[in-house]
Amino acid sequence: MTILGIETSCDETAAAIIEGEKDSKKVRLLSNTVASSLSLHAATGGIIPEVAAREQVKYIIPVIEKTLKETTINDIDAIAVTIGPGLIGSLLIGVETAKTLAYVFNKPIIPVNHLIGHIYANFVSEIQNSKFKIQNSTVPEFPAIALIVSGGHTDLVLITDHAAPAMPAHSAGGRGKIKWLGGTRDDAAGEAFDKIGRLLNLPYPGGPSIEKEALKGNPMKFIFPKPMIGSGDFDFSFSGLKAAVFRKVQTMKQLNNQAISDISYAVQDAIVDVLVNKTLKAADKYKVKSLLLGGGVAANSKLRERFQSSIVNRKSSFKLFVPTKSLCTDNAAMIASAAFYNYKPVDWRDITVNPELYFY
Ligand code: KG4
Ligand code: ZN
Repeated sequence: MTILGIETSCDETAAAIIEGEKDSKKVRLLSNTVASSLSLHAATGGIIPEVAAREQVKYIIPVIEKTLKETTINDIDAIAVTIGPGLIGSLLIGVETAKTLAYVFNKPIIPVNHLIGHIYANFVSEIQNSKFKIQNSTVPEFPAIALIVSGGHTDLVLITDHAAPAMPAHSAGGRGKIKWLGGTRDDAAGEAFDKIGRLLNLPYPGGPSIEKEALKGNPMKFIFPKPMIGSGDFDFSFSGLKAAVFRKVQTMKQLNNQAISDISYAVQDAIVDVLVNKTLKAADKYKVKSLLLGGGVAANSKLRERFQSSIVNRKSSFKLFVPTKSLCTDNAAMIASAAFYNYKPVDWRDITVNPELYFY
C-alpha cells in the first residue's frame, strides 16, 4: 500500500509518500518534502498564525507536486491528512487540499491526529529499497511508552498496540490503544525553549538556538529549578523555569555572550533532566519493551544522549527509538505512517479539522 501524507498543522507545509506491505513492521519512505516559513517567523520572534496560513496556501500545491515527482497519483492507494491539533487556518489548508484530491481522484482518506503522527515517525524507515529487509531489532515493540515533546505539547502515553484514535473519541476512531499518562500543566517543553530563547535574545526557534549556545556554556555557573521532577505523577510544568530565568536575567547587570551560553546550558540541563527522569519512571512502571521519542524537542542532541546513556547505565530491558532529526520536527511521513498502522478511511465529506483534538 502506498500512502500520500499531508501535514499543515503549524507553520510547515509538508507532503510525503510511504509504502508498506501487510505485515511490514516499518514503512519505507519514498519521498518527503517540507516547506517552512521559519524565516518569516524569525523576524517576528514567533509564529503569527495568519502569516503561516497565507504562506501555506502558496506552498501546498508545489509541495505535493514535488513529492509526487517519481510517483503518479494513480500509484497512491490512500491519502492521509492531519486534522488536529494545531492552528485552524493552517489545518484547513491541508485538510481541504486532501479532501479535494480524494474526491477528484477517488481515493480513500484517513484523518490523523498530529500527536499520534509524532509517535509514528518511529515506524518510518528511510531506506527506499523495497528489497531491504527490516531487522526486527530495529522495530518498536509493544507495550511502549512514547514521550511527545514539541512546541505545543509535552505528553507521556502508553501504547499497547496499533489502532490509535485518529479521530476524536466520539466518532469513528474510538479510543484505540493509547492511554494518556500525563502532560504539561502549563508551557510545553518546546514552548519553554522558545520563550526562554526570546528572553536571551536568541533567534527563533529557541530550541536549536539554546542547544547551540549551551555547547559553549559553563556547567557550573547556573542551576535552575527542575519543576515537578519528584512529583510522583507523569505531569510536567515548565513555566516556573521560564520565570526563574526571567528573574535571573533581571538581576544581571549585563547579559553578555558567555552569560547567555551559561544560562542556555542550565536551561537545557533542567528540561532534559525532567523529561528523562519522568519518562524512565513511566517505562519502569509499565514494564514496557520500547521507549519512543517524538516531536521537535526530540531533535535535541543532549536529550537523545541523556536517554541513551541512562538506558545503558541502568541496563534497562527496553529499547530506545528516536526518529532521525528531520522526522522529529513536523513532517508528513509520520502522518502517512500513522495512517498505515491505523487504517480507518472515512468519507471525504465527513472530515473536519479539529484544532483542539487531543488524545481523548
Ligand atoms: O514538532 P515541532 O516541529 O512542531 C510542533 O508540533 O510544535 O516542534 C517545534 C518545537 C519548537 O518549540 C522548537 O524550539 C523545538 O521543537 N525544537 C528543539 C530543537 N529543534 C526543535 N528544541 C530543543 N532542541 C532542538 N534541537
Ligand atoms: Zn509537531
